[in-house]
Amino acid sequence: MIKRLTAIDITGRKNGAKLVVITCYTSTMAKLLDGQVDILLVGDSLGMVVYGMDSTLAVTLDMMILHGRAVVASSQGAFVVVDMPFASYQASKEDAFRAAARIMAETGAQAVKLEGGAEMAETIRFLVQRGIPVMGHVGLMPQYFNALGGYRYQGRNETEATIIREDAKAVAEAGAFAMVLEGVKETVAREVTADVDVPTIGIGASPACDGQVLVLDDMLGLSGQVPSFVKHYGQLGDAVREAVGQYADEVRSGAFPSAPYCYPFKKPSID
Ligand code: KIV
Repeated sequence: MIKRLTAIDITGRKNGAKLVVITCYTSTMAKLLDGQVDILLVGDSLGMVVYGMDSTLAVTLDMMILHGRAVVASSQGAFVVVDMPFASYQASKEDAFRAAARIMAETGAQAVKLEGGAEMAETIRFLVQRGIPVMGHVGLMPQYFNALGGYRYQGRNETEATIIREDAKAVAEAGAFAMVLEGVKETVAREVTADVDVPTIGIGASPACDGQVLVLDDMLGLSGQVPSFVKHYGQLGDAVREAVGQYADEVRSGAFPSAPYCYPFKKPSID
């Protein structure tokens, strides 16, 4: 049996081999990705990617649990982190514990992730002390986009840079085993990574981070418009359109299904 990584293994990668993280929302993708990456992140970006929502704000705890369960059930070696959705953890640390406990118990994931800096430190400490490994998320926090003035990268001036540095420090000191740094200016990401003793996982935050994460559909060319920090490692959208186009042509012309695809199937001849 393959042993999954643990939160302690992940923290131990600070200053070690870079951590490879990718979002994953489905059983099909979990089977394909397991063994290729260190961490599968069931991100609340699934609201936009899978459900066509405008933002992550309407994603529910039940949605995260269903997708988290599918990813855990279809992977063996990866460390699985499930995002805590908006409004499941901000009101009180007790609410946060109840939501995180459901995620851990009902999905079998190894950790939860939540967005927030110094204001979330007490909540992170509360969860960690009660046996729930927490990955932090600072910088550009999509659940805060209304307050941040949109999805703009952070750390543009000294005031913003100070907030990110203090947030990252507070999250690390509260016991997070790692943290995502999203949409952060390179110099600030470099300083934060040097300052905190847990791994930073960058998305649009430069190679200075201890690891990288991308949204799977974005890097595979399955999304429409993507942020400028995304590199396309495939053009699966084109491949899907081409395959389904060919299927549609063959159904319309009657070429599919031909004899080999009809009951009774012909046995291969043995002479
Ligand atoms: O929800 C998500 O996919 C994320 C990553 C972009 C880090 O939080």
